[in-house]
Amino acid sequence: MKILVATEKPFAKVAVDGIREVVENAGYELALLEKYTDKQQLLNAIADADAVIIRSDIIDAEVLDAAKNLKIVVRAGAGYDNIDLAAATAHKVVAMNTPGQNSNAVAELALGLMVMAVRNMYNGTSGTELMGKKLGIHAFGNVGRNVARIAKGFGMSIYAYDAYCPDEAMTAAGVTPVHSAEELYKTCDVVSLHIPATDETKNSINKALVGLMPKNGLLVNTARKEVINEDELIELMQERTDIKYVADVMPAADAKFRTLFADRYFATPKKMGAQTAEANINAGIAAAKQIVDFFTTGNTRFQVNK
Ligand code: 3PG
Repeated sequence: MKILVATEKPFAKVAVDGIREVVENAGYELALLEKYTDKQQLLNAIADADAVIIRSDIIDAEVLDAAKNLKIVVRAGAGYDNIDLAAATAHKVVAMNTPGQNSNAVAELALGLMVMAVRNMYNGTSGTELMGKKLGIHAFGNVGRNVARIAKGFGMSIYAYDAYCPDEAMTAAGVTPVHSAEELYKTCDVVSLHIPATDETKNSINKALVGLMPKNGLLVNTARKEVINEDELIELMQERTDIKYVADVMPAADAKFRTLFADRYFATPKKMGAQTAEANINAGIAAAKQIVDFFTTGNTRFQVNK
């Protein structure tokens, strides 16, 4: 049985060591394809793999066609918008994610980006504080919950909107539920995005919504670039010179954002929310264990293409 780790953006070495231990203890073979630069390398490496562990790596119909022995793909992380789920099902390949395993890392980065933005990108000028400000968490999943936990320590008042999460789960976490995205943006000084990229959410963060934010509103995106309507956000930021945007998911129009809004826009050069040794260990080893469990007991608990 061959388990491939295919990561264009590699895990920390300590996480790969942990994955290897899980795989080899189960009597399987580990193959590594790290930092690959073109799709053909993935097509070659996956040809004889029984299972593959990925991060944001694209698993589309062409990759699945090339993967003649593949039974399972595990996205070591939360968002699985990089896997063509219908094609996986058509190829009889089980697709899973590892929910929650890297969420603290992403949440810590979201708070770090907030501090950076309210301190004027660390340019030495007088900024503002997070204490006493209203934080809106857009989607109260694993990352959103961690953001709430950390933001409490900063003394922020925390609100959340999530159509799929009951109010009780928010109130139990000391968070005030609101019942529409509009209400969240209208209420909050800072909005932190934690929605997945789906047909429903793509382009949904638009001028009308962000334009509801109070003066000096700050939008933080550690989720996916696709959820932002970039043209409209640019238009809004041109009209509202008080609005700031910081992202761990670089916009397609990064150069334009940088030129137009030098002092109130920042994006990381490469998505790094989950780039910590801890997150790599947690998500990578969870992925390896889920594969072993799937092959040995048939467990499909984290399957996302049912
Ligand atoms: C996720 O969905 O788990 C995060 O966006 C992290 O993605 P990454 O593994 O590509 O860093």
